[in-house]
Amino acid sequence: MFTDMVEEAGVAVQSNQFLVVDHDQAAVLDPGGNLGFNELLLGIGRHYPPQDLTYLIASHADPDIIASLDRWMTATKAQLVISKVWERFAPHFTKNGKTDGRVIGVPDAGGRLPLGDTELWLLPAHFLHSEGNFHFYDPVSKILFTGDLGVSIVSGEMARTPVRDIAKHIPRMVGFHERYMVSNKILRLWVNMARQLEISMLVPQHGAPIVGTAAINGFFDWIEKLMCGVDLFDQRGYMIPTSQVAGLTGRVLASRKTV
Ligand SMILES: [Fe+2]
Ligand SMILES: [Fe+2]
Repeated sequence: MFTDMVEEAGVAVQSNQFLVVDHDQAAVLDPGGNLGFNELLLGIGRHYPPQDLTYLIASHADPDIIASLDRWMTATKAQLVISKVWERFAPHFTKNGKTDGRVIGVPDAGGRLPLGDTELWLLPAHFLHSEGNFHFYDPVSKILFTGDLGVSIVSGEMARTPVRDIAKHIPRMVGFHERYMVSNKILRLWVNMARQLEISMLVPQHGAPIVGTAAINGFFDWIEKLMCGVDLFDQRGYMIPTSQVAGLTGRVLASRKTV
């Protein structure tokens, strides 16, 4: 896990990247944007020759997940593994032709991806938050990588500190989940699936891992009851705006009547 490739106190959100190695193969999960590319490549090089990476696996197609795709396609021979929903959008991150024959489009049902002597499970997590979205389960370490689910917005140092007390941690998660997750229905469907797995750790793409049975069950109990996204939006969220967005001067001008 790499937690602080992006400068602290900068404008970009803290994010985690992951390297999973099994025997002679390796995968980078959610490699990230361009900001931390060089540091991440160096970090990976301490464990595995980056040019020999087998897969880049993207939970979805957001900039903090895969905007560095062009550089990975150049620096490695890896295949990109991404939802079929994003398969033909991801090449927009690269120069012409760089992804030719190098994208594995994952169907909505997910699947088990061979890695070394084992496999990574690509679990459906659509609409949490992206329309085509997967979580990754490692059946060896029993870690479930949950992308943008279970996220807490914290510093790189806090992201390295596992959470065991879920009640204290919920305030760091609630605002993000209420706005970025799509609906309570989807959360409940996901929890029904996730409860069937033996999980040692929930590891999100931003913030701290959630560790131990009590904290993981506490997370499930909380998230399956959370109202979010379309549950919370009503007509008040869809009104013709009357106030101006701060322009170059940074001032928010008083609203004025037009027409
Ligand atoms: Fe995202
Ligand atoms: Fe993210």
